[in-house]
Amino acid sequence: MKRVCSLVMAGLLVGSAGLAAEPTPAAGDAKVGRETFLKSGCDQCHGREGQGSPTSGPKLGPSPPPLAAFTAFVRRPPQQMPPYGPLILSDGELADIHAYLSSRPPPPANAKLPP
Ligand code: HEC
Repeated sequence: MKRVCSLVMAGLLVGSAGLAAEPTPAAGDAKVGRETFLKSGCDQCHGREGQGSPTSGPKLGPSPPPLAAFTAFVRRPPQQMPPYGPLILSDGELADIHAYLSSRPPPPANAKLPP
């Protein structure tokens, strides 16, 4: 009985260690996404870091819309943005871009900016 218990405990430990190593499965590859973001010209309107510009495109990072909404938007933007169909950018490539934008560092808090 003692042996069974320790086996179960070991199993639980290994199981939770596995979970700790991978908190959330990555939906896309941020490094590849950066290349695709630049190659596709998203940066021309949204800036290299997805920081946005008052005249050409809104800020996209570090909190883009959830992947499904992001993909739906890019496929059929309702206003000025050009559409990117699946032949131009696959769902996987959009997931990579989404991962890149999500990985952007947050801007510094206002209190930390020099006066
Ligand atoms: C020609 C300029 C231009 C290019 C190129 C462009 N966008 Fe946009 N994007 C815009 C504008 C302008 C908007 C604001 C909504 C609109 O007018 O359609 C926008 C909005 C968005 C939004 C919605 C943001 C939000 O929070 O509502 C997403 C997501 C987005 N763009 C992603 C992309 C991605 C990814 C690419 C490259 C594949 C891209 N855009 C290329 C101009 C551009």
